[in-house]
Amino acid sequence: MDSDRLGRWETRLAQIHSSALAEIEQAGDEKAIEAIRQRYLGRRGGELTLMLRSLGELPAELRPRAGQAANEIKNAIEEALETRAAGLADVARQRRLAAEAVDVTLPGWPIPAGHRHPISIVRAEIEDFFVSLGYDVVSGPETEYDYFNFEALNIPAEHPARDMHDSFYLGEGALLRTHTSPMQIRYMLAHAPGLPIRVVVPGRTYRRDDDATHSPMFHQVEGLVVGEGVSMGDLKGTLLALARAIFGENTAIRMRPSYFPFTEPSAEVDVTCTVCGGTGCRTCKGTGWLEVLGAGMVHPQVLRNGGYDPERVSGFAFGLGIERMAMLKYGIEDLRHFYVNDWRFLSQF
Ligand code: PHE
Repeated sequence: MDSDRLGRWETRLAQIHSSALAEIEQAGDEKAIEAIRQRYLGRRGGELTLMLRSLGELPAELRPRAGQAANEIKNAIEEALETRAAGLADVARQRRLAAEAVDVTLPGWPIPAGHRHPISIVRAEIEDFFVSLGYDVVSGPETEYDYFNFEALNIPAEHPARDMHDSFYLGEGALLRTHTSPMQIRYMLAHAPGLPIRVVVPGRTYRRDDDATHSPMFHQVEGLVVGEGVSMGDLKGTLLALARAIFGENTAIRMRPSYFPFTEPSAEVDVTCTVCGGTGCRTCKGTGWLEVLGAGMVHPQVLRNGGYDPERVSGFAFGLGIERMAMLKYGIEDLRHFYVNDWRFLSQF
């Protein structure tokens, strides 16, 4: 009789145990686990709790074994609940880690890189061309003495050529250089009587001008070659090669007589119109030609001022505006585009 009661007790415990384990197995989250804990072990109405409370209804001699058996099942269920909860937490952590995972082998975000200004592009093309011919590239001061900017270049005070250079004067015989030609004198003085001289001088220049084709600050490249037997033919060949390097292989040049105090003879140099290719259009005013630079054979007095003997050596010089070259090369109609740094303009080059 007693052994029957104990047998039923143990059978009931075994049912609770197995159904609890089955449910725990199925539990998908923390909430489900908590519900199972309440159903079996809850202080109010938990199935196992109720059984333990009914222990008193058993005969006294059965209670120790029945109680021990119930407690073992209780512990087993608790342990199963803990194990399952830990397992679920682990799965959740793995999932979170997987979601946060970074593939360090993926390419990075592109870094928006700037690029060169059209003035810098054309300047670099001109420099590269002359470097390929063996020229040095140097720079000179932007604040210059009147002597180098004018006097030593055969432009004394009151000379009408000064009118072409509306200058920013700084006082004390100094000004912002109106062209890069003063570097002709500086470079010759620094190298005389060394031969040959082959140099280009890119840099900023300043004049009191401001409209669609003139800016108070602009860029020039000066060129100077001095040696024995340097001729006008050398000048022409050099400028033709330059024009083709910058504007394309089909470009031609022509030289028109002109006047600069520091060259003799002097020439203004035109290139085939970059818009119509020479047939005549609005840009070249129907002529087929566009003026790009001034040039000539270095004046004997300028050679002397630079420390060279015009009886023994000769030279040629030229000066070009980088803005003008860039406007012709890219078809830009207003010079002021170069200085406002509008991204829509700059990103085209
Ligand atoms: N310096 C002259 C100018 O700015 C250009 C030039 C340079 C002409 C060298 C002849 C020789 O206009």
